[in-house]
Amino acid sequence: LNGPNLNLQGRRDTGVYGSQTFESYFETLKAHYPSVEFDYFQSNHEGELIDAVQQADGRYDGVVLNAGAYTHYSIAIRDAIAAIRIPVVEVHLSNVHAREEFRHKSVIAPVCAGGIFGFGKQGYLLAVDALEAMQ
Ligand code: DQA
Repeated sequence: LNGPNLNLQGRRDTGVYGSQTFESYFETLKAHYPSVEFDYFQSNHEGELIDAVQQADGRYDGVVLNAGAYTHYSIAIRDAIAAIRIPVVEVHLSNVHAREEFRHKSVIAPVCAGGIFGFGKQGYLLAVDALEAMQ
């Protein structure tokens, strides 16, 4: 589940976020886990991300979430994560702690199972590994 501006991966700040589109990386990810069923959703809208988190409960074994900038201030997304029973792994492409101070705070981290940041798109794969290890 990708949040705002993450549809621009491959075009936006390629020095920070890489030059591959998420869609192309997603194919690699799926091929890596032939026995896992994946769905992908991206939205630039907070309410749609909240709906997606709520609807994931009971339908999936876990969620990999890059909430983008909402990570730093969306109490509503945090509350949605806290309200569901399945684990959510927080992912960031960049090392948010090596960037501006406003990116150091994650309001969702306390309600996520764990987090991975700083490894580019590989972070999504590591998050799936983490979810598999939790099953
Ligand atoms: C990001 C980090 C956020 O601070 C930023 O707003 C993003 C991308 C990352 O993946 O590194 O949109 O979540």
